[in-house]
Amino acid sequence: MQTQAQKQSSPYELAQRLAGKIMIGGNLVKAESSETFDVPNPATMEIICQAAQCGQADVDMAVKSAARAQKGWAHDYTAFERGQLLHKCADLLEKHKDELAALMALETGKALRTECQVEAGVLANTFRFYGGIAGEIKGETVPFNNTCLTLTLREPIGVVGAIIPWNVPLMLMALKIAPALAAGNGVVVKSAEEAPLAVLRVAELRNTILPPGVFNLISGDGPGTVALLVAHEGIDKLTFTGSVETGQIVYGGSAHKLVPVTLELGGKSPMIVCEDMDLDRAVTGALTSMRFTRQGQSCTAASRIFVHESMIGPFVEKMVAEVNKLKMGDPLDESTDMGTIISQSQYEKVLEYIRIGKETTGAVAHECSELPKDSAFDKGLFVRPVIFTGLANDHKLCQEEIFGPVTCVMSWSNFDDVIRMANDTEYGLAATIWTYDLPQAMQAIKQLDAGFVQVNQNLVVQPGLSYGGFKKSGIGKEASLEAMLEHFTRKKTVLINQG
Ligand code: NAI
Ligand code: MG
Repeated sequence: MQTQAQKQSSPYELAQRLAGKIMIGGNLVKAESSETFDVPNPATMEIICQAAQCGQADVDMAVKSAARAQKGWAHDYTAFERGQLLHKCADLLEKHKDELAALMALETGKALRTECQVEAGVLANTFRFYGGIAGEIKGETVPFNNTCLTLTLREPIGVVGAIIPWNVPLMLMALKIAPALAAGNGVVVKSAEEAPLAVLRVAELRNTILPPGVFNLISGDGPGTVALLVAHEGIDKLTFTGSVETGQIVYGGSAHKLVPVTLELGGKSPMIVCEDMDLDRAVTGALTSMRFTRQGQSCTAASRIFVHESMIGPFVEKMVAEVNKLKMGDPLDESTDMGTIISQSQYEKVLEYIRIGKETTGAVAHECSELPKDSAFDKGLFVRPVIFTGLANDHKLCQEEIFGPVTCVMSWSNFDDVIRMANDTEYGLAATIWTYDLPQAMQAIKQLDAGFVQVNQNLVVQPGLSYGGFKKSGIGKEASLEAMLEHFTRKKTVLINQG
């Protein structure tokens, strides 16, 4: 088995080469701004390299480069040809899957086998999906009157500013840029401070295929870099994934320009286990639904699990036993199931939630798995998974997005009550119900206040299926043909009079 020290050379070398760089006009260049920030390895807290804190000049160049390139991208290429290039991007990204996965494991602390390799594969498939449907950007004909041929055209919006987070950086970037590019837009992505490297390598690879400048990537923090991007007059559309609080800032910051904004803002997703469900399936479902292998850093994590009172005892016992089997350790070691929390501030936030939970009267914290024993990881941001019982649905831990390996298991007996509890949150991203009773499942589908509802499974985002939340979970959809049409094109009505 290779250790972190033996395996790190390749992603470390890549990180050194990418340090301080951004992607502008098809070139990997040093940022104009001399300011930088540290990129730590969350498994050891050693600094991997510095990344560029982009300022006004960098943002300006990125937006202008996208605007210049967009015209040719939209008009000199057919939609089919753009799709072909996206397919070529997918093939190239697939070839570099292992390298991208290792670099992402290094910067995010997510485990290579269970998370990063899977995500690198989804990245390529998202490009394939949108490459295949680029030719579906069609308008409609309208039977307006007999003297006019009346129709609508779908056009690119212009320059898209995409602000992405760190939890699934490659996939969340792909969900934004693949449809934006397929539809003929130019793009400027702002990477997350915690994960600027793997996405930059993707940009570098992709720019060997795409015309220079259609895709640009900058780095930097929210108040500095994002604020400049959001306010920039050259940005025609914004798309953001992250916290509610920051989503509100982005939405508000763009109001004076009246540009369309898409927001994907997290959740507090319920999982409802009914009386008829078999225990093994329910527990296996809870483990994957809670995204423990991603340390729970997922907007669709089943962070509230409602189990029918008839089986809650055995359910918790079995769930604890299964989570205990997860191996925490070196993210770059393929035998590791669970890596680290992304950053010191998220680590402290998650530990604070656990502390509050433990101090609550009546609550029981089932702490699972073991911290890594290797002293190389003493400073690493590892958090043992915690399954809480005995917390009420209105408790802070059951209402706020923790974004860590912490879930609350609650008991229910009345179906109407459990639906009410499931909906009793400010979020509305995803929900699952686990039952073989079809009428019960159908009732839940109708009543659950969530944008992505599944019965007897909890898949993550899938290319082809509209994904996006209700209530404070956001505005708009991603991942589908409709998402591309609604969020990355504008509709022009045309009347052609025969006389
Ligand atoms: P965040 O929402 O602050 O960061 C996401 C992106 O927004 C990053 O690119 C960041 O640079 C940018 N940003 C941060 N502050 C900004 C500001 N004031 N103005 C403009 N842009 C800004 O998320 P953060 O702080 O990394 O995590 C906090 C919480 O957000 C997590 O605990 C989790 O609950 C939630 N979150 C949800 C995600 C999702 O998938 N929906 C992804 C990441 C975080
Ligand atoms: Mg923040």
